[in-house]
Amino acid sequence: MIPGPTNVSDRVMNAMISPIISHRSSDFHQLYSEIAEGAQQVFETTDDTVVLTSSGTGAIEASVVNLVRPGDEVIVPVFGEFGQRLSESIELAGGKPILIEAPLGEAPTIDSIEEAFEKHKGAKAVYVVCNETSTGVRIPWLKHIGELASKYGTLFVADAVSYLGGDELPVEQWGVDLCVTCSQKCLAAPPGLSLLSVSKKARKFIEENPPMSKFFDLSNYIRFYERKKETPFTPSLPLYRAIHEAILLVLEEGMERRIQRHKTCANAFYQGFKALGLKPLVEEEIRSNTVIAIRYPQNIDDKRFRKMLDEEFRITVAGGFGDLAGKIFRVGCMGEISSHHVLATLSAVASVLKLQGETVNIDEALRITTDHLRPLKSLQQPLST
Ligand SMILES: Cc1ncc(COP(=O)(O)O)c(C=O)c1O
Repeated sequence: MIPGPTNVSDRVMNAMISPIISHRSSDFHQLYSEIAEGAQQVFETTDDTVVLTSSGTGAIEASVVNLVRPGDEVIVPVFGEFGQRLSESIELAGGKPILIEAPLGEAPTIDSIEEAFEKHKGAKAVYVVCNETSTGVRIPWLKHIGELASKYGTLFVADAVSYLGGDELPVEQWGVDLCVTCSQKCLAAPPGLSLLSVSKKARKFIEENPPMSKFFDLSNYIRFYERKKETPFTPSLPLYRAIHEAILLVLEEGMERRIQRHKTCANAFYQGFKALGLKPLVEEEIRSNTVIAIRYPQNIDDKRFRKMLDEEFRITVAGGFGDLAGKIFRVGCMGEISSHHVLATLSAVASVLKLQGETVNIDEALRITTDHLRPLKSLQQPLST
């Protein structure tokens, strides 16, 4: 139950048990075409999509080296670990990050973001972590940021690594020029692949200003796909099989129902934890539907709590990053997430708290959680495992 890698269904795991084929064969052309077309539906765009054999960090770096040139001003809201890493990548590429910072557990206001656009009219791009995995904060103003980017002629890049497939991001409609996600989070495939969508505007810029990178040159990937339905370099074939199956599962369920399932499970988690007397780190307006960050009660020790949860109940959750280490635990609410994951996690957390001396009302928490999971029934999610 960590915020990625997430649980992977048998269907996706089994898809990897197939012969290693030539990546220059017609079998691969078909496989890759189906992935690229499926990815367009996941990103909700008619623009190009690219699959990289790299984890999310590679794709984030690709988004930076393809668009940022020395001296470029880049607006970056920073409200946790992944925004911080993003700003460092921009600096490494010679860009000048314009930081809009917020304390851990909070998000920069849309007014402060708008102010940055107004103050830095020539900014080349805005890079936004949609869902800050380290704090469980989601940005609810992505559509508005897209409108600002369009108004000011700024490229809009979204780090949707722990967001896409679990929350709302119609990439083309909201004007995202580069959207980055990866295999091991809400898409519920094994780690090792990342996916990007590239708008026409971003593609034009990259073609006219090739990046200082061979492996991450996105226009090269797009050209190879257009001409041959191939990747420029050897792809991870088993992972391509896995993402192919994972995308099929997403499309069978439908994006709308999938997002609703994530929201329902997240809400059930928040309500259930509240009933146990636990406090979320994040205010309701900006709290994540995919990463649930919960504060520890005063007398609970992070390591001891997670060790017992892991060893006695076989439920693994994540701790906090940096200043939040020891103060919160984080639960992944992504991908395959369903009522049994929510109830098993909640029951186990309640039991560990009780065993470690807290007074908790398990019965009430289970009743409330079960109530809030009820809408899942009407979503008729397919059984994938
Ligand atoms: C928001 C966000 N961005 C980027 C990354 C980096 O991805 P990876 O660990 O796959 O390199 C992560 C990983 O958790 C993330 O949550």
